[in-house]
Amino acid sequence: MTPAPTQGDFARRVIAWQREHGRHALPWQHTRDPYRVWLSEIMLQQTQVATVLGYYERFLQRFPDVRALAVARQDEVLALWSGLGYYSRARNLHRCAQVVVAEHGGHFPRHSAQLAALPGIGRSTAAAIAAFCFGERVAILDGNVKRVLTRVLGFAGDLAEAAQERRLWELATGLLPTDGVEAYTQGLMDLGATVCLARAPRCMACPVRETCTAAHEGAPQRYPVKSRRLRRGRRESIWLWLRWRDRHWLVQRPATGVWAGLWSLPEFDSTDALGAASRGWPGRGEALPSFTHVLTHLDWTLHPRRWTFPDALAATQLETITAPWPSGRWCTRDEALGAGLPAPLRRLLLRSG
Ligand code: ADE
Repeated sequence: MTPAPTQGDFARRVIAWQREHGRHALPWQHTRDPYRVWLSEIMLQQTQVATVLGYYERFLQRFPDVRALAVARQDEVLALWSGLGYYSRARNLHRCAQVVVAEHGGHFPRHSAQLAALPGIGRSTAAAIAAFCFGERVAILDGNVKRVLTRVLGFAGDLAEAAQERRLWELATGLLPTDGVEAYTQGLMDLGATVCLARAPRCMACPVRETCTAAHEGAPQRYPVKSRRLRRGRRESIWLWLRWRDRHWLVQRPATGVWAGLWSLPEFDSTDALGAASRGWPGRGEALPSFTHVLTHLDWTLHPRRWTFPDALAATQLETITAPWPSGRWCTRDEALGAGLPAPLRRLLLRSG
């Protein structure tokens, strides 16, 4: 039998380990400014620290506080997010800033329950902000922490079931320390990111291995248990890149779905559909190399086709051609690069010189 971790002992070890071996030089640490902590937590939700670092600094330079962000144009927010992925995060971030200004006088609420009522802030993110900024004694439970705790506790419940997830939240709350919740919260995050790894856990470096059920069982990778596997889909589309003089035709994507709200290229389901739409167009077309963009739930193969209209083409004829895309606009390359673009389109434009 593994000795179950007692509340105080587990937290004490995590805190002591964090102080000595945890991360201390991240730019969102050593501040209690909820704006900075909130921004980092949202950026870190589905993205690794190394990727977030550059984005974080650039974002703060342009929007140093919640009021600056609240009055920004959505386009500019998306442009600064371009390449980070999961763009609904950026739109919620913007809305959240507006709600904080309009309903909370520009100050983030101090309690996790109130924070969790704001756009884009889930229970775990709310808890992280409240713990780091206001010292609230409240549990976090993001993907990394689920892995740490299910292993330590030998929690074999299926996290695809809401009741099991609720049970884990209760256990996580029971393990909280009476003091030092900031170091404890950071310690759990650091353990998950650097020691209790999904595929190759480094148990010998772990401060709680003696009381870890999964380590004693000898197969930590068995946890967490989650039965429902994500079913990945495949999709193929033709991407139509229209050029006229020094302009590129960009269309804004709908507010929901893949690349929501970003500026992209018109899409067709097949070359037949594109052929029918472009019959009789003046100018010349060319096929560019296809590529597959990997999203969480989808492998999306895109076949770019570039079509260049003659410089002398009349504006009225151009308007007729682009009429099917009322959300579109002609942009110079620099304007396009300054907008919120999906990463592969940015690469395509950059490569085209
Ligand atoms: N991942 C989520 N939140 C984090 C934080 N505050 N520091 C490092 N990684 C994180």
